[in-house]
Amino acid sequence: MQIQTTTTPQLDWTGDALAIGLWENQTELTGKPAELDAKLSGVIQELIAETEFLGKVNTTAITRVGGNNSHIRKIILVGLGKPEEAKLDTVRRGAAAIARVAKQAKIKSLGISLPVIQKDPKHTAQVITEGIILALHVDQRFKSELENGELKLTTVDLLGLGEQAEAISKAEKICAGVILARELVAAPANIVNPVTMAETAMQIATESGLDLEILEQEDCEKLGMGAFLGVAKASDIPPKFIHLTYKPSGTPKAKVAIIGKGVTFDSGGLNIKGVGSGIETMKMDMGGAAATLGAAKAIAQLKPEVEVHFISAVTENMISGKAMHPGDILTASNGKTIEVNNTDAEGRLTLADALVFAEKLGVDAIIDLATLTGACVVALGDHVSGLWSTDPQLAEEIKAASQLAGEKFWQMPMEEIYFEGLKSPIADMKNTGPRAGGAITATLFLKQFVQNTPWVHLDIAGPVWADKDNGVDNAGATGFPVRTLVNWVCNKE
Ligand code: BES
Ligand code: MG
Ligand code: ZN
Repeated sequence: MQIQTTTTPQLDWTGDALAIGLWENQTELTGKPAELDAKLSGVIQELIAETEFLGKVNTTAITRVGGNNSHIRKIILVGLGKPEEAKLDTVRRGAAAIARVAKQAKIKSLGISLPVIQKDPKHTAQVITEGIILALHVDQRFKSELENGELKLTTVDLLGLGEQAEAISKAEKICAGVILARELVAAPANIVNPVTMAETAMQIATESGLDLEILEQEDCEKLGMGAFLGVAKASDIPPKFIHLTYKPSGTPKAKVAIIGKGVTFDSGGLNIKGVGSGIETMKMDMGGAAATLGAAKAIAQLKPEVEVHFISAVTENMISGKAMHPGDILTASNGKTIEVNNTDAEGRLTLADALVFAEKLGVDAIIDLATLTGACVVALGDHVSGLWSTDPQLAEEIKAASQLAGEKFWQMPMEEIYFEGLKSPIADMKNTGPRAGGAITATLFLKQFVQNTPWVHLDIAGPVWADKDNGVDNAGATGFPVRTLVNWVCNKE
């Protein structure tokens, strides 16, 4: 599928289907849509009336127009909501809705005419492209037959945005990263495990010339990564500590680390997850690592002037005679001791050693992303990630990057007093606090492993997975928050 801009005016565009966006108060057509309607003998106004189309967000309508000599065969309407509420994400979602309708209608050549947002045709073209590609990505790798046949769409023309080849190409690179993250998260634990995650990192390294260091179990032992290795003990699959590095050709303007939680299956360990705990969904517990690799793939193609370290301590959390026992005391690579009062709070143990490792690299900022707590899902639901930060400026940078990405974050308090709940009579800390404020105590635990470097923690347990289609996400893995990570790094240039 080829996405390109065209300078052909709406009235003259020819192809299978032309999609236009309408605002909520615009259903009495004026201006350009009215001219198009006149050319099409009033078919748009008729469609609006017949389908009671009100221009609300997430609504679409489609109809056949004219006979064989018409310059277009179908018209697609997409609602954009209230113009005063318009954001870049409005047209990203609009484009996603159009792409779904066009796919269903077996359209081959599609024209998309959506408004320029914030007087910024470049970013408008980028996000429309993202919307199309991401909405059309449906993961059918594990089906023996394609459900709706092959995708017929071969060309998409973006109208009214000028020449935007660079923005489209940027979007395509970002989407390749999002799709990699989606596919890693969606693949079950019998396919994606620490070994195959390391192989994926190797593929990215070889295709884009990144440096790759894989620390094996013995290497991790030498570095004293007792917290990470405690989690890995019961798995028959060896743990892999992945460290992928992108270095720009010139002097880097900044040096940052992105750390993803990479638990390829979380059984809970000996505190095994009970009935109704969603154990069967715990293949998604490497969503942080998947997004880290997705971001690496995109950043390696976009080549910003920033040095980026992509890190993940990858393991399964399993049970066996070798499993760590509830109550065991582990020593992390910064020398701190941890009483494991719950083996299901394993993500923070793997992240502890990854944070210590990242800080030793002397980076300017560390961001970690983790499907860390059910408590965060209870607090913020499925669409919003928690964000904690030791550095207000870094928090603002992530929020700015998320605006363009259309991914949602909500800053949560780093309430030090709750560390009381992690105090252990026998070790420096426990790994699990009380039920109340569970996402905050998890963050305070991680904070014990970062000394001075500005740091942001993202709890992405909700948004990595979608129960139903929503915006650019299809039911299943979302690839959250690859777009925010890529924007954040590229904004540093
Ligand atoms: N992987 C889970 C968190 C999770 C929950 C991710 C739901 C995705 C969806 C994590 O390792 C976990 O088990 N957390 C426990 C922590 C508790 C034992 C303190 C939880 O949230 O219940
Ligand atoms: Mg767990
Ligand atoms: Zn987990």
